[in-house]
Amino acid sequence: MAANPTNPTTPATSTNPIGPTNVPDIALADGNRIPQIGLGVLRIDDEAVSPVVESALEAGYRHIDGAAGYNNEGGVGRALAEAGCLTGENRKRLWVTTKLRDSEQGYDSALKAFDRQLGLLQLDYVDMYMIHWPTPFDWRSGDTWRAFVRLREEGRVKTLGVCNFLPEHLEKLHAQTGEYPAVNQIELHPTFQQREVVAFCEEHGIAVEAYSPMARGADLNAGNGVIERIATAHQVSAAQVILRWHIENGTIIIPKSVHAERQRENLDLFSFALDPDEHAAIDALDGPTRAGHDPLTFTYA
Ligand SMILES: NC(=O)c1ccc[n+]([C@@H]2O[C@H](COP(=O)([O-])OP(=O)(O)OC[C@H]3O[C@@H](n4cnc5c(N)ncnc54)[C@H](OP(=O)(O)O)[C@@H]3O)[C@@H](O)[C@H]2O)c1
Repeated sequence: MAANPTNPTTPATSTNPIGPTNVPDIALADGNRIPQIGLGVLRIDDEAVSPVVESALEAGYRHIDGAAGYNNEGGVGRALAEAGCLTGENRKRLWVTTKLRDSEQGYDSALKAFDRQLGLLQLDYVDMYMIHWPTPFDWRSGDTWRAFVRLREEGRVKTLGVCNFLPEHLEKLHAQTGEYPAVNQIELHPTFQQREVVAFCEEHGIAVEAYSPMARGADLNAGNGVIERIATAHQVSAAQVILRWHIENGTIIIPKSVHAERQRENLDLFSFALDPDEHAAIDALDGPTRAGHDPLTFTYA
């Protein structure tokens, strides 16, 4: 009997490699729906990433967040092949994101890069293709976006997104192309909440996706034990408290873990809720310090 993806008692099987899930979808402005939790695969090498993706699929992840710059699209593709997720119903149940290298921005170069990336992933289409960094000192996002639109028209990309765009970059892209992206993936965690960027996105129908949702682990100890105290009160982990706070904010999250147990923990966010005081205590941890890079000056690859 085929497994039911919404029934939490049904395990992953060989015919249904994607385990049970109760993760909600977020509706995007372009009509597509993205699972609110995905697995990040940054800093996992090409060989190591395949078992990591396979264990995530078994745990019930339906969303993988990759990038050309992570140098592991081949390993992600091998995991999808091994799990039988390249075509058919299994493919339809999955959301696969990848991102264009900064060095390949531009109309022709983006089209060429996409062909290579799709080949590595062994897929016919990706659910989301993203501009990785705005590189405002070498702006090519307008031309790149025109290539992205062509890929969407060809049915090889479903949703177009960007990462690390500040409002000024979103406005410039809109002025040049007449479009806002459906998703902006930005660094966002309790100690760096980027409220102005989030407000601009909300105003313009752009879904916010939080990368480094736990500040790469640093926020687990944020606020002199505030997170830990809330975790103890709910008998959950500090990671679950932070990820639950994101979920309650309506943010898409892509926590990374190479450990199957942590992957399961990071999906298990729906059997408790923060009370308003607890949620507000995490809101109050906001600060000005990034864990990652500054989009005004950084280029990734
Ligand atoms: N668009 C961009 O420019 C951009 C930039 C950065 C990241 N990203 C994306 O966002 C994803 C996530 O961000 P991130 O990897 O920087 O940071 P993160 O998800 O905030 O944190 C990952 C770190 O936390 C640990 N961890 C995970 N789950 C845990 C748990 N339940 N308990 C304790 N520790 C836990 C992981 O260790 P273990 O792996 O050892 O479990 C890892 O060291 C990336 O993988 C990537 O897909 C995008």
